[in-house]
Amino acid sequence: MTVHFIGAGPGAADLITVRGSRLLGTCPVCLYAGSIVSPELLTYCPDDARLVDTAPMSLDEIEAEYVAAHKAGHDVARLHSGDLSVWSAVAEQIRRLEKNGIPYTLTPGVPSFAAAAAALRRELTIPEVAQSLVLTRTSGRASKMPPGETLAGFGRTGATLAVHLSIHAIDQVVTELTPHYGPECPVAVVFRASWPDERIVRATLSTISAELAKDPIERTAIIFVGQSLAAEDFRESSLYDAYYQRRFRGRDGL
Ligand SMILES: C[S@@+](CC[C@H](N)C(=O)[O-])C[C@H]1O[C@@H](n2cnc3c(N)ncnc32)[C@H](O)[C@@H]1O
Repeated sequence: MTVHFIGAGPGAADLITVRGSRLLGTCPVCLYAGSIVSPELLTYCPDDARLVDTAPMSLDEIEAEYVAAHKAGHDVARLHSGDLSVWSAVAEQIRRLEKNGIPYTLTPGVPSFAAAAAALRRELTIPEVAQSLVLTRTSGRASKMPPGETLAGFGRTGATLAVHLSIHAIDQVVTELTPHYGPECPVAVVFRASWPDERIVRATLSTISAELAKDPIERTAIIFVGQSLAAEDFRESSLYDAYYQRRFRGRDGL
């Protein structure tokens, strides 16, 4: 018996990985976060699978499901939105599994920032404009930020920021970042990337709050901030220039 943690992707049922969907098809039990995982993904589960929505459950209750499945010899598929490596609460579940001696695997998923960037039709690293992407958030009810991880601190670098779990704190994001990026810095908010009701709001640090106030977004959105969002007049990377092709791509037998 094994618990398979599976990144469900950002929402659209065809943005789960092939491995993830195959695993779903083999597990007689599936635990999923109903508040953010698309019900369409559950169609990959066997018809008679036990489907458990963990949205209203405590960690103790989730652990009890794993222990019961372990006793019954039933593999479990555990779906989390996006990828497992960020804000998935997988770490605390793994700790419980290890305490109970229950085996587990992790299968990555398409993270929501990648789906949101695709919705914007942008690359987020642009030559000589921004070469780093910071995935971050503001403090929330469930987790406080460690003292060294501040928006202002990240803002000082000029990197592209992908601020998760923070649409309710858009004014704080603007206040903390404006001194570093300037009021004209581009901002894009992507709500429910890849879902049928996906929405994009493009603005600047000085106008985003007013734009959002016209039709508020309350959850499941990423706030991107950085010059990479609008850069047009940038230098091409060396990757496809003729010299680089000859030198590093095999024409000289290298
Ligand atoms: C609990 S975190 C989960 C992150 C997820 N593990 C990932 O890889 O993106 C939930 C936050 O991720 C972002 N998010 C998740 N799905 C999204 C989507 N489809 N579109 C935009 N943002 C999304 C939002 O910032 C949301 O508040």
